[in-house]
Amino acid sequence: MDITQTHSWRELEALAGQMQHTHLRELFANDPRRAERYSLELPSFLLDYSKNLIDDEVFVNLLQLAREADVERWRDRLFTGVPINRTEGRPVLHTALRGSGVADLSCEGQSVAVAVATELERLKGFVNLLHNGALTGCTGLPISDVVNLGVGGSHLGPQMVIEALRGYRQGGVNVHFVSNVDGAQLADTLAGLNPETTLFVVSSKTFSTTETLTNARSALRWLDPLADRDELLRRHFAAVTASPARAQEFGIEADRVFRFWDWVGGRFSVWSAIGLPVAIAIGFEGFRALLDGAAEMDRHFQQAPLEQNAPLLMGLLSVWYCTFMGYPAHAVLPYDQALHMLPAYLQQAEMESNGKSTTRSGEEAAYATGPLIWGQLGINGQHAFYQYLHQSPAVVPADFIGSVAAGHGLPGHHEILMANMLAQSQALMNGVSNDEVVAELQERGLDEAEVSALAPFKVHRGNRPSNTILIKKLNPHALGALIALYEHKIFVQGVILQIYSFDQWGVELGKGLAAALQPKLECGDLREEDASTARLIEYYRRVKAG
Ligand code: F6P
Repeated sequence: MDITQTHSWRELEALAGQMQHTHLRELFANDPRRAERYSLELPSFLLDYSKNLIDDEVFVNLLQLAREADVERWRDRLFTGVPINRTEGRPVLHTALRGSGVADLSCEGQSVAVAVATELERLKGFVNLLHNGALTGCTGLPISDVVNLGVGGSHLGPQMVIEALRGYRQGGVNVHFVSNVDGAQLADTLAGLNPETTLFVVSSKTFSTTETLTNARSALRWLDPLADRDELLRRHFAAVTASPARAQEFGIEADRVFRFWDWVGGRFSVWSAIGLPVAIAIGFEGFRALLDGAAEMDRHFQQAPLEQNAPLLMGLLSVWYCTFMGYPAHAVLPYDQALHMLPAYLQQAEMESNGKSTTRSGEEAAYATGPLIWGQLGINGQHAFYQYLHQSPAVVPADFIGSVAAGHGLPGHHEILMANMLAQSQALMNGVSNDEVVAELQERGLDEAEVSALAPFKVHRGNRPSNTILIKKLNPHALGALIALYEHKIFVQGVILQIYSFDQWGVELGKGLAAALQPKLECGDLREEDASTARLIEYYRRVKAG
């Protein structure tokens, strides 16, 4: 089925043309109940999507598009382990990691529920030993610091969550992250650590990622003076992987290898043993609360009617803007210091999933697919790139995310923060018309010439859409729900756009090329390289040789 041939698709194309000439001010003026009708209260947060460029006709057609794209059937396939990751021949079962889906699911002859529960118990035991000081390095001192060596999905999720839940730390073990193969990051991290009390967790789904294995080997060399290789690997290393045989080949003992499975995508793996650093940082019960929050969102996604289904609506809105309205980017703007890594996390989650142009039928998509995701903490962004959001000709829909409860006890700060978040979405929506600017300048006493010279620069067209997610309190449960909200949103986008969201061939291409170029930085024939690459390598060699 070609989605572009559906009735709703054609309707939406026509409606997008009309909506370019509609102002959000008008939509609010015409419907006093708009904010109430276009918002959802979920257990952990309020989603206000009323400041979006939609009216009831668009809304109805978007829902119809979801039906015509068969989102409900795809959703059922997701939760029941149908191999919807077709190009890699796998099911997509990160939801099973938080206990969602059917209880009797099995994969490769193994009960998924039993496998997940067994691994969680192993994690719990390990975390308890660590917190009790019972895990010691090879000189007998208790482990005080854990360094996660991993990149992409084996890094972003755990670090983002730990940063978001700083206030929930327990157990007294420090957690660090090294993701970059640029040795500067590992060197900086190790500079502050005692080898005798440091444990490395090598986190890699494939256990073949060059960046991670290079860091692991350097970490082992750093420990070298303490003991022989076997003893170091036994006492100072653990692994999290879906390729346990490779981890053991590296020398990490089986009882220190925590596993997950092929059916968990790297960017959706924080719920698996990849979340070990989270459990170390906030305790196993905290990690469980994160899983429970995600499971709550799973139930909502599975059970809520389409018109009240938060991830579905967010997915539809994203398709509406990127594909129909022609807005190719989307900003993530947290007004919560704790969520400072959320934009980076969502960049991988969404862009690695939906940054594609081949449809499920193997043809080139005849439409724009997933947007460019970018952003940073809202307040900092206000003093950096918001000028662009307000007055550039480009329209960038945005998600504002804040919490009612402050994550600190300092008086006065939180109200300033929240007022700014609300003000920004209001300003983007309403803008300031020429008449309003003129009236303001006249009131300030400027003469007519001054008013007409200045007014054009102060006009804000407005009509820039946004969602606002207002979280009651950013605790492990709410964070779990928030992450799962975005996961399902991404899934919905992919289904509607008819692309496979769970592979990442575009990332694989560069990995292969880098491996082939690496030796050429030293020496070798460059005639097969393109002229630009050859020139850069020649320059690199020349400068390096001094
Ligand atoms: O960045 C590409 C990628 O393949 C991601 O999908 C994955 O999260 C990351 O590399 C790390 O892979 P691994 O966990 O196998 O080391």
